[in-house]
Amino acid sequence: MTMVDRQGLASEPGAAVAAPAALPRHVAIIMDGNGRWAKQRGLPRIEGHRRGVDALRRTLRAAREIGIEIVTVYSFSSENWSRPATEVSALMGLLKRFIRNDLAELHEAGVRVRIAGDRDSLEPDIRLLLTEAEALTKANTRQTLIVAFNYGSRQEIAAAARALAAEVARGERTVDSITPEAIEARLATAGVPDPDLVIRTSGEMRLSNFLMWQSAYAELVFQPILWPDYGREALVEALAEYGRRERRYGGLGSVGA
Ligand code: IPE
Ligand code: IPE
Ligand code: MG
Repeated sequence: MTMVDRQGLASEPGAAVAAPAALPRHVAIIMDGNGRWAKQRGLPRIEGHRRGVDALRRTLRAAREIGIEIVTVYSFSSENWSRPATEVSALMGLLKRFIRNDLAELHEAGVRVRIAGDRDSLEPDIRLLLTEAEALTKANTRQTLIVAFNYGSRQEIAAAARALAAEVARGERTVDSITPEAIEARLATAGVPDPDLVIRTSGEMRLSNFLMWQSAYAELVFQPILWPDYGREALVEALAEYGRRERRYGGLGSVGA
């Protein structure tokens, strides 16, 4: 029997246990490759997105069982509006369905749901669903799930800059008080520790406007697997890779020892 321990690493009972690797508190995932998954099977891209929601459900369950405190998922970027209207509306529909179908399970499991991204340009019914999901799960403490939807890191940082500039203009703060902490407090992730691990599936190796501020010292793991095929096994692999990394934060770490 294979077990997954606190570190998320698969081990056989009785097998020598390696020195416990750190488990990331916050894992952020760029769920990529739905379109290619569908194309490989001669299916419409939308079918890839549908299967991507199943992968999300599996992965979130695994992350809860493993004990990841915070999970952020990139589900629609500010730039994804440039896709064909049919695909955009299918993605909007899938978000609605995900919230309607999965919110109860998430709530029961003690997950607090937060949405990061610009809501103003979304349809009112989606906005309402997002607000309801946040309100219902507000007091939950087992895990935080941040859904980055209509999210772009540059837009997020620009909005923070605008908010701070407005405070200066109103005489509520000085220019010198604009520190990294002040900016951080105005990001969609305010109050949430930075991601320790950013995973991107499908083999692409870029951030695509995802958590650029917050990922300053995140470990990046790129996995070739296409998102609809993702689940516990791939997540455990990414966590094991994270465990082999040495985080130095600009210092010397073990090289200085
Ligand atoms: C990720 O899959 C989902 C979204 C970006 C919404 P893609 O749709 O980007 O799939 P590929 O990259 O075309 O394979
Ligand atoms: C990033 O994937 C956005 C999401 C996964 C939601 P894209 O597929 O949109 O990114 P690019 O276009 O390949 O950089
Ligand atoms: Mg893509």
